[in-house]
Amino acid sequence: MSASRSLLGLGPSSPHSPVGLPRENAHGFQSLKSASLRFSPTLCSIKSVPHPNPPSINRWSLGGATALVTGGTRGIGRAVVAELAGLGATVHTCARNGTELDKCLRGWEEEGFRVSGSVCDVSFRDQREELVDTVSSVFNGNLNILINNVGTNIRKPMVEFTSEEFAKLFATNFESVFHMSQLAYPLLKASGAGSVVFTSSVSGFVSLKSMSVHGATKGAINQLTKNLACEWAEDNIRSNAVAPWYIRTSMVEQVLSNKEYLEEVYSRTPLGRLGDPTEVSSLVAFLCLPASSYITGQIICVDGGMSINGFYPRHD
Ligand SMILES: NC(=O)c1ccc[n+]([C@@H]2O[C@H](COP(=O)([O-])OP(=O)(O)OC[C@H]3O[C@@H](n4cnc5c(N)ncnc54)[C@H](OP(=O)(O)O)[C@@H]3O)[C@@H](O)[C@H]2O)c1
Repeated sequence: MSASRSLLGLGPSSPHSPVGLPRENAHGFQSLKSASLRFSPTLCSIKSVPHPNPPSINRWSLGGATALVTGGTRGIGRAVVAELAGLGATVHTCARNGTELDKCLRGWEEEGFRVSGSVCDVSFRDQREELVDTVSSVFNGNLNILINNVGTNIRKPMVEFTSEEFAKLFATNFESVFHMSQLAYPLLKASGAGSVVFTSSVSGFVSLKSMSVHGATKGAINQLTKNLACEWAEDNIRSNAVAPWYIRTSMVEQVLSNKEYLEEVYSRTPLGRLGDPTEVSSLVAFLCLPASSYITGQIICVDGGMSINGFYPRHD
């Protein structure tokens, strides 16, 4: 059951309310819509969509932006929450474990970040609906950024998958992000400048042992990323994905505790190490900034070069 967590300074009567943002935040995202109406291209006579980010706005700030990050209490999601909030965004996040969520919310509050949260299992339709209802009321029906981050894995050869396991992986990794995007669409559109970022994986590009179903869910995300980029362009909503290789998080702790397996991972990775969640969150944030306003429909690997590695043996 989804339950809105104390908004920690984000309630309607708070001085930090999304409605009454401080003056320095009243630029950028919240003014993009009206700014785009004033901007008229002069260089050519071909009718085109106006540039939504006139030079006057701060291209490297998320001040005034609102964001929803799913799965924000650990790993990549947690780093994304901090990265977006650090750039000035007001963020709502969710996770299933309420105790862990409360602890994170207190930590972010101490850092001066504006973050609220809900307990929600995004693999359930009714809980997704409740989450987006909450987000809509917290952000007054406007959402600039949707980070579809939650994903899970079941590692085994494809012939051993039960129908329940297959359904669970698709429900959590793909159906949830498809439906979250559907639910968030009116809010993203209402904001006048929307950005959706999916957390895909290199498994959506190349084959990885025991990950045929995981790879299929991420491959589906990659195609959805491209379709939304075209479908929602007229609403000034961009859609991109990040595709990590091994990032040091709780999800991969167990598999990487096998020293021999870890050595194989290092040897397959040109940079010779695992990634850190902050090395993914920086790209996610860039894809949400006005600075990336002409980038849409892209799936960008964050993989230390793993996905382009042909044959570079460590020993000649
Ligand atoms: N780590 C990697 O090496 C790697 C590589 C490629 C792609 N990825 C992708 O990156 C994304 C994040 O992975 P991660 O490694 O950061 O995972 P993680 O460390 O396990 O963190 C997952 C986060 O999502 C929450 N979560 C999990 N299932 C949820 C659900 N059903 N509903 C709501 N919240 C849920 C967790 O909190 P609760 O448990 O409290 O719900 C936690 O906050 C996933 O999509 C994954 O496929 C990761």
